[in-house]
Amino acid sequence: MFWQPFCLVLLLLAVTGDCVPQSSVSASNHSAEYEASTRRILDVATQRMRGIWEMRKRIFLQLTSKGKSTLGGQAPSKQEVDIETYKLAYELAANLSVVSVEQLHDPKLRRRVQRLAKLQLQGLRPNDYEQSKDLLRAMQNFISGHMICNAEDCANRKPTSMYPQLYNQNMRLKRYEDLRGNWYSWRNTINDKDTAKSTFIDYVRLLRIAATYNGHVTPSRTWYLNFDTENFQAEMESVIWEIMPLYRELHAYLRHCAIKAYPKFSFKDDGAITAPVLDQILSQAWYHKPIFQTPFPKDQLPSVHHRLEEVLVTPVKINKKAAEFFESLGLNHMSDGFYEKYSRRMNDDEAGSDCKPQVYYFPPEVALRYCPKLDYKKMMQIHGTMSELQYNIYKRELPLGLDTEPCPGFGSALAETVVLASGTPRHLHRLKILFNDSLTEMQSLNRLFRMGVHTLLAVPQYFINDKFLVDVMDGRIGVQDYNCAYWRMQDKYAGVMPPVWRSAKDFDVDYRFYRGMHPDRSNTRKFMAEILGFQFYRSFCLASGQYKPGDPKFPLHNCDFYDSKEVGNLIREMMELGATRHWRDTMEIATGERKLSGRGILEYFAPLFTWLKERNMQLDVEPGWDADDLCRKDP
Ligand SMILES: *[C@@H]1O[C@H](CO)[C@@H](O)[C@H](O)[C@H]1NC(C)=O
Ligand SMILES: *[C@@H]1O[C@H](CO)[C@@H](O)[C@H](O)[C@H]1NC(C)=O
Ligand SMILES: *[C@@H]1O[C@H](CO)[C@@H](O)[C@H](O)[C@H]1NC(C)=O
Repeated sequence: MFWQPFCLVLLLLAVTGDCVPQSSVSASNHSAEYEASTRRILDVATQRMRGIWEMRKRIFLQLTSKGKSTLGGQAPSKQEVDIETYKLAYELAANLSVVSVEQLHDPKLRRRVQRLAKLQLQGLRPNDYEQSKDLLRAMQNFISGHMICNAEDCANRKPTSMYPQLYNQNMRLKRYEDLRGNWYSWRNTINDKDTAKSTFIDYVRLLRIAATYNGHVTPSRTWYLNFDTENFQAEMESVIWEIMPLYRELHAYLRHCAIKAYPKFSFKDDGAITAPVLDQILSQAWYHKPIFQTPFPKDQLPSVHHRLEEVLVTPVKINKKAAEFFESLGLNHMSDGFYEKYSRRMNDDEAGSDCKPQVYYFPPEVALRYCPKLDYKKMMQIHGTMSELQYNIYKRELPLGLDTEPCPGFGSALAETVVLASGTPRHLHRLKILFNDSLTEMQSLNRLFRMGVHTLLAVPQYFINDKFLVDVMDGRIGVQDYNCAYWRMQDKYAGVMPPVWRSAKDFDVDYRFYRGMHPDRSNTRKFMAEILGFQFYRSFCLASGQYKPGDPKFPLHNCDFYDSKEVGNLIREMMELGATRHWRDTMEIATGERKLSGRGILEYFAPLFTWLKERNMQLDVEPGWDADDLCRKDP
């Protein structure tokens, strides 16, 4: 490759200090020279990035070599890779922060500098960065650490974790007292001596420091870094209000179900739903014995498990089927070489009960580690993972700084569309897993209902968690008001209330909140993935002719755009752009729109909306809720 000797020269130049723009520019201000010196900084950084990719590759090979040493010597640890990545990002941002972007004429170069010069946690000084990682670990431990025990059986039983243990237990519980008890236990445990709250406060302090390094007076500018939008929260909030009429109908119907399921507790029929019940319902989206009644309880969804095992036999076969989905769109073909060298199965012990496939990025290669399990959920998940692989293959051609998604959640949104398409009866029929390419109308509503529980209840929670964090970060909520402010948001945006009186001393945020503290796994990203995902899905389905508004044979919820070259072209065009353009420009390619909107979700769930409105009327159930202020400032 031609750049290699060229880069060596640049490396030497860098050592002599010629690559610092200020010094080289002081003599004359020729922009070409200024650009060249800026490029030199980026080339040196790219070289270092290659070293990091090499480390990642060795880790992948070591993990998958079954103990056989492949490249000789011990592979680096994940921690070492993280440290190297941090150092590179940190130094590079510092070096680029003195570059005056106005003097760069090449728009691509300008964008690279802009994106690489600003950082989130990685912008912190080493000690602070270490502390931020410790705090993130502590918060992760609130979720997965084995630390909860109910007062009675503390002595006899091993403590449990919130997720997945307590979560799974709550899903099955039939007594409200037990749900409520678990709700308390976890919060009491992690916030004993204010631990949870003070961990959160320390972490927010670091997020604020990171923002000052970026020159952001408003800390949330750094939290929403690559959204490049003045008031991104307002845009998210407008989506929440857009889908609120649908949410309120679902909320009213589920409240009615909760009253029937827990009659002793006489929940108010015009009030909010209590948090433990909402959590339980959310966890039961696909559970066979939920506390809610699906629209047509007798019209069970056909079971896919048995046929899935017959047709798709092994996880490898599922992977290939998922890869084929993308090939049908005219996207990259995954070669035999990929399956031989870069697609590896996880060990059973590593995989655990809830394993997620992992994608590795070390250009020019991409690699996959997949779960050994074989079920419907894994099949859907692997379609999303294949989407990530495709994205990596297209964006790896781009220079450092632009070889990413244009904003957090963009890639997940694209993945979401394929997950939606591959789970339709039409697609399952294509895979010979279902005999018919559509469900009966009643089954269809049952399926939409469960999708609705899964998606519509979660979206406001992502928003609330994000808003609470950002409002605290920006100083709009004071420490004494944390808990009550949180409950006011739950009331306003979700119709959810605490199970009993709470006070400012408590700190009641849920486990999803802590999970979203890492910028890479933020609730903002999850929100984006869902909303933009449905927007993309709608557009892809229109483009492929698989969604014909008004035609009952082609509803949005049974749209499978498999084999559509039109959709393939749209996906390729967006993936190839990486971060070279603003995400609004990139989303416009597929959607013709430049803003987030709830339209995709509303059209997808339109039949459910109609059913809910009628059903609620029949049941004499009034959508909406009266605020019950159950949080007091002074305990
Ligand atoms: C070159 O550009 C820098 C930064 O914009 C400016 O401060 C300086 O005065 C310029 N020097 C000359 C010689 O024009
Ligand atoms: C940053 O600049 C320093 C001083 O010129 C140089 O030694 C270092 O390699 C540069 N690092 C990066 C990542 O650009
Ligand atoms: C498939 O659809 C046909 C016609 O709509 C229907 O008669 C048949 O019962 C369906 N089969 C299954 C297995 O649902």
